[in-house]
Amino acid sequence: MVELTPSFKVGNDRIDDDHRHLLDIINHIVETLDAPEPADCASMVSDFVALAKTHFEREEAFMKTVDYPDMAELHDQHQALYDKLDTMVHLSTNARDNKLARESLRREMVYFLMDDVINEDLNFKQFLADKGLVRDA
Ligand SMILES: [Fe+2]
Ligand SMILES: [Fe+2]
Repeated sequence: MVELTPSFKVGNDRIDDDHRHLLDIINHIVETLDAPEPADCASMVSDFVALAKTHFEREEAFMKTVDYPDMAELHDQHQALYDKLDTMVHLSTNARDNKLARESLRREMVYFLMDDVINEDLNFKQFLADKGLVRDA
C-alpha cells in the first residue's frame, strides 16, 4: 500500500486530489494483482491511464496560469511518462494469466507515481510556495 504523505503534497488542492485519486487506483490495482486469484485489471488500468492523461493536462494548464518558468521541462517529463502508460495497457491485457506481466505492471504503476509526484512535481512545490499559492506550506 502506497500512501501520499504530507511531504509529497504540492499544496494545490486540485493537483493533490488528482495524485490521491491516482494513488487510490494504483493501490486497488496492486491489490487485484496480488490476490490469490488475480482478476482482470485491464479496465482499471485503462481508467488509470485516462485519469493520468487528464491529470497531466490539468497540471500543465494550471502551472501555465501561474507563469511557471520550466513549462517545457514539465511537458517533456509528462511526455516521457506517456510511453509508460502504453506499456501498462499492454501488460494489463496479459496480467490475469501471466505472473511476470503482473509483477512488471505492479512495478510500473508504483514507479509511475513516484516519477510524476516525487521526481518531477516536487520541483514546482517550492515555486508555488514562493508565490504564496499553497494551502499549508
Ligand atoms: Fe507532473
Ligand atoms: Fe502530477
